Amino acid sequence: MPATPFELLGGRDRVRALVTAFYDRMEQDEPALAALHRRDAAGRVDPGSRDRFALFLTGWLGGPDDYVAQFGHPRLRMRHGRVRVDLAMRDAWLRSMTAALDQLAVTGEVRAYLDARFAEVADFMRNAPEAAPEE
Ligand code: HEM
Repeated sequence: MPATPFELLGGRDRVRALVTAFYDRMEQDEPALAALHRRDAAGRVDPGSRDRFALFLTGWLGGPDDYVAQFGHPRLRMRHGRVRVDLAMRDAWLRSMTAALDQLAVTGEVRAYLDARFAEVADFMRNAPEAAPEE
C-alpha cells in the first residue's frame, strides 16, 4: 500500500512540529494575519487553535481522522467566514507555511505535494473580492 502524505511527513510528532513552526513564523513575520487569530494572555496564537489545526492536518494528510470524530466535517470555508481572506492574507498564510516547511527541511515528493495542496486550499479559502481596478 502506498504511504500516505501523513506517513511520508513522519507522523503525528512531525505534524505537530509543523504546526508549531507555522504559527511561530506567523507571529514573527505576519502580524496582520496573526492578529486575526484568537490569542492567549501572552499574545500567542491560542493553544486550542494550534491543537485543532494539528488534528485537522493529521486527518487531511491521510492519518487518523480525530478532527472529524471530535468536531465533525471541517467545512473550512464556513469556519473561515468570520475572517476576511483576501489575496494578501492568502499569501501571508502561504508564506508562513512555506517558512515552516523549510524550517523542518521537508523536501522531495511530499514537499511538492504539500506545496501544491496548500496553494490550492488557501486560494479556495478566499472570500473577499479584490478592489476593482482604477478606472
Ligand atoms: C488563506 C488564508 C487563511 C487565513 C487568513 C486563515 C485564518 C484562520 C483563522 C483566523 C482561524 C481561526 C482561529 C481562531 O479562531 O483562533 C483559522 C482556523 C483554522 N484554519 Fe485557517 N486560515 C487560512 C487558511 C487555511 C488553510 C489553507 C487551511 C487548511 C489547510 C486552514 C485550516 C484551518 C483550520 C483547520 C482551522 C481551525 C478550525 C477550528 O477551529 O476547528 N486555514 N484560520
